[in-house]
Amino acid sequence: MLQQRAGEARQQAYAPYSKYRVGAALLAKSGEIYPGANVENAAYPVTMCAERAALFNAVTHGEREFEAIVIVTENGGAPCGSCRQALSEFGRDLQVVTADTQGNLHLNRALSDLLPDSFGPGDLHSD
Ligand code: THU
Repeated sequence: MLQQRAGEARQQAYAPYSKYRVGAALLAKSGEIYPGANVENAAYPVTMCAERAALFNAVTHGEREFEAIVIVTENGGAPCGSCRQALSEFGRDLQVVTADTQGNLHLNRALSDLLPDSFGPGDLHSD
């Protein structure tokens, strides 16, 4: 289901420059699924990744706790460092799964394995 939703999100990717289409589906602990796709820009660094698009979509809907994210690309590529960091803000137990467009799984790891010794909310002073 999550994989299917990520594949559907990938269809909405806007990737005219790289042609590398990415779809993500983020499962919140509420049971809701939030999709995201990469959105590129002629000013290249402005581009937004699919994983962060999904995360920001979910957070905008009030979600703060997540179970898993499935990312679909043509080759099952891994999430970038910026997306790992953004996701880690909301918990390091997140299960991260990547799949290719043939349905094969490539990565299936906890975020804590993909981003060890990370900087997080606990590193900041609260006062
Ligand atoms: N991309 C993502 O959407 N997620 C990642 O984790 C890695 C890269 C996108 C950004 C850009 O539109 C394209 O893939 C090529 O880098």
